Amino acid sequence: MRFSPSFCLALVVCLISTFVVGAPYPAQPTNEVVTNENSVPVVVNQTSELWEKSQLGRRASKPIQPSWILGRFSDSKILTEEDRKVFSSELKDLKLDSRLNLADPALNNGGIWTVKEYKTYHGDISDLLVKIMPDYSTKHSDINHEQSDNLNFGEVKALKHVGDFVAAGLIKDPERSVTDRLKDKAKSLKGDKPHMYPVVVMKKKQGNTLSSFGFYRSANRNGQVMLAREVKKLTCTEVARVAVAKRALHGDRNLGNALVTFNGIRPISVQLIDWGIAFLVSEGTKFDDVFQYCMKTTKFFNNKSVDVRRAVVAETSNPY
Ligand SMILES: Nc1ncnc2c1ncn2[C@@H]1O[C@H](COP(=O)(O)OP(=O)(O)OP(=O)(O)O)[C@@H](O)[C@H]1O
Ligand SMILES: [Mg+2]
Repeated sequence: MRFSPSFCLALVVCLISTFVVGAPYPAQPTNEVVTNENSVPVVVNQTSELWEKSQLGRRASKPIQPSWILGRFSDSKILTEEDRKVFSSELKDLKLDSRLNLADPALNNGGIWTVKEYKTYHGDISDLLVKIMPDYSTKHSDINHEQSDNLNFGEVKALKHVGDFVAAGLIKDPERSVTDRLKDKAKSLKGDKPHMYPVVVMKKKQGNTLSSFGFYRSANRNGQVMLAREVKKLTCTEVARVAVAKRALHGDRNLGNALVTFNGIRPISVQLIDWGIAFLVSEGTKFDDVFQYCMKTTKFFNNKSVDVRRAVVAETSNPY
């Protein structure tokens, strides 16, 4: 049997495209552009996490999700009745100290605070931080109350999985003035309740975000990219370690959520924070599978910012 040259060419193109489209994860972009990595909630290059794009420029029709990712912690099918009760009582003996002064203030949450007093906790309170949980529904018209609550329940559930959870509950507005406090008193005498805020008390992790280091900020683009590459390897090592040990995959892998420790100018370790987007992984998940997946889907630099919580809510069951 003889085939014409054009038939052979078509066959080769077809085979190549099948292999490229069928590759397990998206290819790493070569043209990385620095963006504001602390402006949250943001994940960089969300597109490549959600969609596989072939080198021939075709979009695969289905999002890719490795089989070891079982689901989002904030998915209503994964949350239990118990998970939904975490903010139901007041943390009466918790007193906040001061709000962290972050380079890029959070877009959603009500601030990250240090603790002044917390009698229920027997350890050192300087090891704790409090996050005032966001109400996404007030800021994003496409996120409803229930979805917003589920995101917060999911964050607490993930924190429990990884062992960084200390407590959760409700507190009064820590920024209220003396007159507000008097008004609260008057309200409570009348039987009205003051507005309460859901918070999570969590363990403070070591290290600092890359952008908080002066030498990183003053480096040229090449220098920043090289440092971020090192940090990415360390981040993915930690992501894989935690996924294997605690069955939780960090899903918001941006530079604002990786706390780096340096030895001189060499980054030597990373601790993960902000479990607002996280996934339950199956038992027996392999370190290498998670590490490779993380390396291929984590893009610290991009010229696009995507509101990841919204994207996750929109992709109800299959965010990848
Ligand atoms: N457990 C922690 N240990 C140490 N620092 C933390 C911890 N959690 C938060 N921080 C600090 O607070 C910053 C913001 O916290 P986080 O990333 O949780 O919220 P966000 O991304 O700003 O807001 P949102 O959750 O609303 O998107 C971090 O970049 C880090 O500097
Ligand atoms: Mg963050």
